[in-house]
Amino acid sequence: MNMTDKISRSEYERFKHFLEQACGITLGEGKQYLIVSRLTRLLREEKIASFTELLTAIERHNPRHIRDAVVDAMTTNETSWFRDSSPFEILENVVFPEIDKKGKHQCRIWSSACSSGQEPYTISITLSEYLKSSQTPNGGLANSQIVATDISASMLAEAKQAEYEEAILGRGLSQQRKQQFFQHTGGRWKVVEEIKRRVRFSEQNLLLPYAPLGKFDIIFCRNVLIYFAVDRKTDILNRMAQALNPGGYLFLGASETITGYSDAFDMVRSPPYGVFYRLRS
Ligand SMILES: C[S@@+](CC[C@H](N)C(=O)[O-])C[C@H]1O[C@@H](n2cnc3c(N)ncnc32)[C@H](O)[C@@H]1O
Repeated sequence: MNMTDKISRSEYERFKHFLEQACGITLGEGKQYLIVSRLTRLLREEKIASFTELLTAIERHNPRHIRDAVVDAMTTNETSWFRDSSPFEILENVVFPEIDKKGKHQCRIWSSACSSGQEPYTISITLSEYLKSSQTPNGGLANSQIVATDISASMLAEAKQAEYEEAILGRGLSQQRKQQFFQHTGGRWKVVEEIKRRVRFSEQNLLLPYAPLGKFDIIFCRNVLIYFAVDRKTDILNRMAQALNPGGYLFLGASETITGYSDAFDMVRSPPYGVFYRLRS
């Protein structure tokens, strides 16, 4: 029996529907192997006899932890430090200086699919570096708050712990930053307080309302929209526009674009660093 045969056509259709409704992820045709390879262990651990039984549990939200475990297993949590470098170069050389000039009271930044924390901590490191190199940083940037959210409770727990193995640090972090912004304790590397204290974590499904999070000056929404259908992307981007203060900034992943999904933003080319989006006035 191959992997695809372990799940029936109707079970696959029910999984597709569940995932789209629960977290926006669209599974294309022929992805049965993904369900089988990612959920077989859960069946065994939870002593669930079949995919049909699992589907009944997640569709009835009962028990809740099984539903969360399925979403966790089916989402991709791939991330790294200074991923794609461009957004962080733009922050340091374009966005932070602009916000600095505006003399705002507080700068609020949202890392909206933060996975295990590398993205919000990278933003915080970039801000610390900017504040140290800037001649006249105003109070607003120094008072910045980074709100980091994700749908996955297990990813958020890792992120909050703020401790990483050597091999994880190796993915995108220079030796100099490692020494400056991490402490080596008990075989792991701990994010220093200066970087950690700006970041607050909370659970947020991107399909649900953003109003409880408040307004932001900068939003990072990277490497998550690629998994969503067109109408979901449009809805999320338009609601992110409403969550931004006037003139606010949006960063997407390197393979993501706004073109065709939302006209609430202007694309700004910022050579030599790359592209970002600014809320249209
Ligand atoms: C590939 S990671 C991207 C991490 C980081 N933004 C980066 O670019 O390195 C995608 C993250 O999106 C989260 N995610 C998937 N669907 C989501 C949803 N509906 N709401 C919030 N987060 C979601 C996943 O849990 C995962 O941590």
